[in-house]
Amino acid sequence: MTQFNESQWALPEFSREYRDNADIFIVERKRLFEIMKSFYRYFIYSREQKSILDLGCGDGIITHNLLEIDASISATLVDPSSDMMSKARERFSGYNNINFVQASFQDLLKSDIIPRDFDFIVSSMAIHHLDMDNKKRLFNFIFIHLKKGGYFMNIDTVLPPADNLEHWYFRMWNEWVDNKKNALGLERDIFSDLTRRYKDAAENKPDTLEDQLNALRDIGFKGLDCFYKYGIFSVFGGKKETS
Ligand SMILES: C[S@@+](CC[C@H](N)C(=O)[O-])C[C@H]1O[C@@H](n2cnc3c(N)ncnc32)[C@H](O)[C@@H]1O
Repeated sequence: MTQFNESQWALPEFSREYRDNADIFIVERKRLFEIMKSFYRYFIYSREQKSILDLGCGDGIITHNLLEIDASISATLVDPSSDMMSKARERFSGYNNINFVQASFQDLLKSDIIPRDFDFIVSSMAIHHLDMDNKKRLFNFIFIHLKKGGYFMNIDTVLPPADNLEHWYFRMWNEWVDNKKNALGLERDIFSDLTRRYKDAAENKPDTLEDQLNALRDIGFKGLDCFYKYGIFSVFGGKKETS
């Protein structure tokens, strides 16, 4: 299994470039967040003493979006990058009830360092760094760490099921980035070979949506569905039933 330290995410300049440009790189990022917030409001908000786990939290943007609609949340944020963790700590310096765990998914799978009984476990753009065997192990970890009646949502890139679809999805991705660049008047080359860099990076190991939904089903998740999809960008998840 590729370890976090061997990946580009271990380099502070790589995570900085992501933070500075994520709204351009990630197709409809704000809409993805709106879907997550709507899901949270509908399925979780009315509960008492809600706890959430944000896996591969980066600078904490996902938890921040949730705290904007529900300040009563207790959140645990996990990420192996010191740079990302320090940004997340800065972001939440005025907040209580935030627990930071600097660890990779590999660390979580090795030793059980996270408490259980979360109402909502969410991850954004991070689980595709694991191969399928380890995705399955992480999905199982998530199932075990959810309360009965809890929900999992993964916002992530997925592998298209056919080459012709991948070519089109990459074209759509480039079109999105070009439109954003033009609207913002940007000319920087960092966007020019985005799809090739994504495809060539050893730490990107996306699997198809279907394979991941099947893996979640085998583990015991119910009510599984894809809640949104735009090319390779998808939002999917399900529920740990009460009985
Ligand atoms: C694309 S960023 C996403 C950050 C944040 N969730 C967001 O949506 O902006 C990917 C994150 O995954 C983390 N990451 C990379 N490899 C990881 C691993 N093996 N285990 C856990 N997190 C990892 C990186 O440090 C980075 O913060």
